[in-house]
Amino acid sequence: MQKLTLTRPDDWHLHLRDGAALKAVLPHTVRQFARAIVMPNLKPPVRSFADAVAYRDRIMAAIPSGKHFEPLMTLYLTDNTSPEEIIAAKASQFVKAVKYYPAGATTNSEFGVTDIRRCDRVFETMEELEMPLLLHGEVTDRDVDVFDREKVFIKQQLIPLKLRFPKLRVVLEHITTSDAVNFVLANNNIAATITPQHLLFNRNMLFKGGIRPHFYCLPILKREKHRQALLQAATSGNPKFFLGTDSAPHSRDSKESSCGCAGCFSALHAIELYAEAFESVDALDKLEAFASFYGPDFYQLPRNTEQITLIKKTWRIPNELPFIESGIVPLGAGNEITWQMA
Ligand code: DOR
Ligand code: ZN
Repeated sequence: MQKLTLTRPDDWHLHLRDGAALKAVLPHTVRQFARAIVMPNLKPPVRSFADAVAYRDRIMAAIPSGKHFEPLMTLYLTDNTSPEEIIAAKASQFVKAVKYYPAGATTNSEFGVTDIRRCDRVFETMEELEMPLLLHGEVTDRDVDVFDREKVFIKQQLIPLKLRFPKLRVVLEHITTSDAVNFVLANNNIAATITPQHLLFNRNMLFKGGIRPHFYCLPILKREKHRQALLQAATSGNPKFFLGTDSAPHSRDSKESSCGCAGCFSALHAIELYAEAFESVDALDKLEAFASFYGPDFYQLPRNTEQITLIKKTWRIPNELPFIESGIVPLGAGNEITWQMA
């Protein structure tokens, strides 16, 4: 195949940051995607309906002129989030979901939830209002191996949560294991997003010839058998699995450090990276539904009507792009890629 025409996709899991960083990264997403579910892990986080409205205004102001983009806002769940806040958020129409970070799990998660059961009153309201709960599905126990944190989260937290709230609509975000795939397949009212890095790379990439901080994200890359399970799920045509890049911009300096930040930046070339992954298993015919149909269907939003075109053409991913005080290194920098968005 030399040319691929798709309904314009949406990104169902995206970090846009704020201020100068927001201005630097947003044009990349706007070029490819019509809408995005915007993560609320700012400093301080987006905790209230009022915070979400103000952040949405800042995003709208950063959209390059003449371009169309719709940010879909989320609230950051804390131990103190009230059911009333969820009701106000739902009524606003702007807030499409609520994000759960276990306290201490990842970037800017220090305001996150210390014990998921503390949020049961909020979950009850969310279940009633059909407000999706987006899970960073990892436990934070120091005793649990970093490669097992998703699997243990499913067992210790997610299974009991689904028993307490069977109708709560859940998205298990950026899944990385066959355990997550199997759980999503076996349960109702749960879907999952899958990132390009987890489809394209296994954990060997973190140490290929030396330590490679630009492949470090959370949840961390896993073994090859898990990558295979994700690729199978993404290309299966099952509407429970859809696109969410988790593009998470950090400057080169903050990644190339003795204690580097977690996050891969893929907004530059996300749809091309997914095309590479789907083509690797001869499943390009499944890309459009994964990228453009199943997400809006889950969120009960209309599908986009515009189209984009990808051309079969080899190009090299740049080593660095302008960002803030230092540049930003895109996922797979320096490597060749064989699809290009026209
Ligand atoms: O790698 C990650 N980066 N994982 C997350 O959960 C957060 C994200 C970020 O905000 O940088
Ligand atoms: Zn994320």
